Amino acid sequence: MSKLLNLLQDGRFHSGQDLGQALGVSRSAVWKQLQLLEADLGLVVHKVRGRGYRLATPVSLLNPEPINAALALLGWDVSTYQILDSTNAQALRTVTQGVSRPLLVLAERQDAGRGRRGRPWVSPYAANLYYSLVLPVHGGIKRLDGLSLVAGMATVQCLRAHGVHSAMLKWPNDVLVQGQKIAGILLELVGDPTEQCHVVLGIGINANMRDTDAIDQQWTSIYLQTQQLVDRSALAISLSDALAQYLGRLDAVGFGALREEWEALHAWQGKAVNLVSGSRVIPGTVLGINDQGALRLHVDGKEETFSGGELSLRLRDDS
Ligand code: BTN
Repeated sequence: MSKLLNLLQDGRFHSGQDLGQALGVSRSAVWKQLQLLEADLGLVVHKVRGRGYRLATPVSLLNPEPINAALALLGWDVSTYQILDSTNAQALRTVTQGVSRPLLVLAERQDAGRGRRGRPWVSPYAANLYYSLVLPVHGGIKRLDGLSLVAGMATVQCLRAHGVHSAMLKWPNDVLVQGQKIAGILLELVGDPTEQCHVVLGIGINANMRDTDAIDQQWTSIYLQTQQLVDRSALAISLSDALAQYLGRLDAVGFGALREEWEALHAWQGKAVNLVSGSRVIPGTVLGINDQGALRLHVDGKEETFSGGELSLRLRDDS
């Protein structure tokens, strides 16, 4: 089935005869495989008499060879899967088997993709990037101040390199294009945060997705921004290069030295916002962040700082 998908991924018409010849099977065997593609992967195949078959939407399949080669240069391992519940969940399971150097988990599809604050992350087959990097941490989580913010910076760098020039951050680590979400980051931790632990840095980038009604907020994708199908393998490689570079800088100089660079990428700098924490809503104005990556807000005439995974920012109507 993967050979058939490789032939069809360009979204062009292919005759049943050509496909059968390329696969060395009969036309009726091609037909059966096409049925499986639709049933198992959730892809839609257009069947047009006289023209043949094509995918309703072209896809970009992950190509493990160039990914493995590029990441070997960074000293990272890679595991690429067809379908997972969640690359973060798989990454966390892998940690129990012992991970001593960075390990990247990728998948073509997630059936239970996890977003922040318990929300689902829509993850159709071969459409977007589902990326989880396991990082072994020695000497306690304190060394990782600003890690999730730095992951956002790397994601913005990668998106801009792929033609999304107006990608910006929203604290703590949403990536937006003119208010529409294009990428999200979910950090999960396993082990003793004061000693030996592993962090899973989960990054989802909307790459080639064109439509879905399963997302309940404004969103966009690289394809919708550039009108170009993005090569997901190249995207995984450039995200890894950007992350490796930012993680190196974080390690060398600490987050404080990257703070201004982060603020320059912050879409909501100086904006009037509501900070939402469960049922609590705190109105304020964004001043920036501190050297640990906590949000600095001007609230009721004084400065307050906020941090924690359950917080989220909303723009106020008067912003
Ligand atoms: C958010 O809500 O903004 C965070 C979304 C994080 C999604 C990514 S996709 C790869 C990794 N695996 C998951 O299940 N979640 C993260």
